[in-house]
Amino acid sequence: MKFYIATDHAGFALKEFTKEILHSLGHEVVDLGPYNDSRVDYPDFAKKCANAVASDEGSFGILICGTGIGISISANKVAGIRAALCHDAYTASMCRAHNDANILAFGERVVGKGVVESMIKAFCDTPFEGGRHANRVNKIEDEVCSLGADL
Ligand code: RB5
Repeated sequence: MKFYIATDHAGFALKEFTKEILHSLGHEVVDLGPYNDSRVDYPDFAKKCANAVASDEGSFGILICGTGIGISISANKVAGIRAALCHDAYTASMCRAHNDANILAFGERVVGKGVVESMIKAFCDTPFEGGRHANRVNKIEDEVCSLGADL
């Protein structure tokens, strides 16, 4: 799999470890920065990664900030991006199985290295289930998802 990765300053320290894990699993990694721990704004790096994933069919992304919240919210503004803020292997697996997530987001101040490794493995090993989930994902893309009683 091909991964674009970006962080802000609060996610910078986990970037090298995350890259090591991806490389050890045989994945291709494109590092979109930042390249030092100077203070930056997470929307700028979310946008770089989201645009790269959206324009490179079949690719995936990893985004890290302090909580994972700001950087995932920002990435989800880009058409075609489904960035999932995950906290454990279960959420990392389910975001692929049910949501066809193409970006895995997490918070350096929230999860440790062991959890990061388990999330990456779960994300990479889980295929999208399609079927009824595809209908729902299509509704996200169409921006016509109205939350009804029979979810
Ligand atoms: C930076 O201090 C922090 O606000 C940012 O990394 C992120 O957690 C925002 O959602």
